[in-house]
Amino acid sequence: MQVIHSIDALRAALKPYVMQDKSIGLVPTMGALHNGHAALIKESVKDCDVTVVSVFLNPIQFGKNEDLDKYPKRLEADAKLAESIGADFVFAPSVAEMYPEGDPLTLVRDESLESLYCGAYRPGHFRGVLTVVSKLFLITGANHAYFGEKDYQQVFLIERMVRDLNFNIKIHRVKIVREESGLALSSRNEYLSELEHSQALSINNGLHQAKELFEKGERRVALLRDVVIKSILANRGQVQYVEVVDQKTLQKFSAVLQPDVKVVILVAAFFGKTRLIDNIELN
Ligand code: PAF
Repeated sequence: MQVIHSIDALRAALKPYVMQDKSIGLVPTMGALHNGHAALIKESVKDCDVTVVSVFLNPIQFGKNEDLDKYPKRLEADAKLAESIGADFVFAPSVAEMYPEGDPLTLVRDESLESLYCGAYRPGHFRGVLTVVSKLFLITGANHAYFGEKDYQQVFLIERMVRDLNFNIKIHRVKIVREESGLALSSRNEYLSELEHSQALSINNGLHQAKELFEKGERRVALLRDVVIKSILANRGQVQYVEVVDQKTLQKFSAVLQPDVKVVILVAAFFGKTRLIDNIELN
């Protein structure tokens, strides 16, 4: 496996695969890889002739007061993990390599969905994500790309972007990987103290309580939200949002769910200073 830092070198390394019409899988990451990323890499290695894992902490998707500076960085360990799973290339460009002229003037945006849910609290976040993901698609020429469902709104917006802009790439959603405790894996879990970690389990517990209520026939949106909110608040979490949302449109429901809708509950909450997101589909 090769670690490559420049766009030209990556394109040169991938050229033989492109010439032979081989399938290229891309796993975009910001590094600090964990088993959630490992699941994405495994899928790509299984499906594709060649797998590229990008490790790029993308500054334009972070707000001024967010955790860009303290985000964990460990390229060597990331490369080892990617190699152990069978990745062929780790692409780890510098900020100057990706944005040689400073912040890009051309941005990819979804004007209607980028300001919902996470976007309401992280202005500019999704245009930063869509812009860097577009660049990675164009740089690698990948035919397949893999994203985790923990970032539900992110993968939804990426799928929509691919359709809107005719990117010739198949987006694969990969199920959330959880610790045995139920906490969804995230590079940000490292910020949690032991106490906060145990309190954060209330997110998944609350989501499961909502799912149980739903399975027993509860269709009142307020009740499904409340059970999640109460679980988090009872464990000293601060709720940023809990919304009951249409899986197909990402629009939020209010009042009572109709029988034929496909629902996902999206959550963002703080434990101490750490912001975590999670979700559960109710099918
Ligand atoms: O989900 C992430 O890690 C990032 O948002 C992504 C998709 C790698 C873009 O920087």
